[in-house]
Amino acid sequence: MRPIQAIISSSALQHNLAIVRQHAPTAKVMAVVKANAYGHGLIHVAHALIDADGFAVLSLREAIDLREAGVEQTILLLEGAFNAEALRIAASFDISVVVHNAVQLAMLVSTPLSKPINAFLKMNTGMNRLGFVPDDYVAAYQALTQNKQVGEITLMTHFATADEETGIAEQLACFNAAIEVIDAPVSLANSATILRYPEAQADWVRPGIMLYGATPVGGTPATTFDLQPVMQFTSQIIAVQHLAEGESVGYGATFTATKQTRIGIVACGYADGYPRHAPTGTPIAVDGEQTVTVGRVSMDMLFCDLTDLAQADVGSAVELWGNTVPVDAVAEVSGTIGYELLCAVAPRVPVKGIA
Ligand SMILES: Cc1ncc(COP(=O)(O)O)c(C=O)c1O
Repeated sequence: MRPIQAIISSSALQHNLAIVRQHAPTAKVMAVVKANAYGHGLIHVAHALIDADGFAVLSLREAIDLREAGVEQTILLLEGAFNAEALRIAASFDISVVVHNAVQLAMLVSTPLSKPINAFLKMNTGMNRLGFVPDDYVAAYQALTQNKQVGEITLMTHFATADEETGIAEQLACFNAAIEVIDAPVSLANSATILRYPEAQADWVRPGIMLYGATPVGGTPATTFDLQPVMQFTSQIIAVQHLAEGESVGYGATFTATKQTRIGIVACGYADGYPRHAPTGTPIAVDGEQTVTVGRVSMDMLFCDLTDLAQADVGSAVELWGNTVPVDAVAEVSGTIGYELLCAVAPRVPVKGIA
């Protein structure tokens, strides 16, 4: 078996959940576990976060998998049901749905359900992705309240710039103005909002990335928020090459040695989810020591500089990201965000849960 694996720490997940609760002590926590729990493995993560108050996913399949794995809390479909059949099945499994447009509202009102379904009614307050415009919101709310098939209704919006200087003030003011006449629970906050805006925690928070120990705020390391990385993405050195000055390594010969250089060949490539556009100089750790990648990432292998790591050899442990190398550091030099790298860890990488 190739030596690559993603090791997922339950205790780090629980630690990060505790950080959520420190910031939002009175809110219920809807752990966002879509995209296979941001690449960490849906069921393992759900079991580790069994103290959460709910779980948010994209697909009915994920939602049913959670129910079948014993999750009894609220489960929310973040984009709602895509057709009447999905709505019927969701209701039968006590799965809650976002309702974000008139089509979904009409479907909910007209589809006979075996039992009432809880709805999260979404308002578009400026992100312009999903949601009713503020002017249509109260009418949509009333249509839901008048329907016996609808159980609890939670009011919801999503912020576009909670992680940036612009912040949430304008969207929050828009939301609050539109719901003035409604008395119902509210859900607003993603990770950046949880960490930056105590005034916007409301009744349900929806943390995603912070649970996995990566930063929601570009340029601010996750450690600033006392978050712990959940994934250790690890492999090994499988060969060592010695380059003389002027020799190159890898496709395109994009790295040429300017002195005698010892190169470690790492069993991890873009087919494992490592970003191909990670440049020479991307941080990587070998036997717990930081060094850098060199050359172009290939499908199954990448290269790192072992010149100053005399002990490192074939079989040495490599950390692509984890405790020594933050995923956010790899993301930053690769022109992306930790979210994308975590979600992209490929199905061929074995995932191992640890306590
Ligand atoms: C509606 C909604 N809420 C919450 C989240 C979680 O966001 P984050 O991972 O930034 O905490 C997401 C993620 O994209 C989302 O789409």
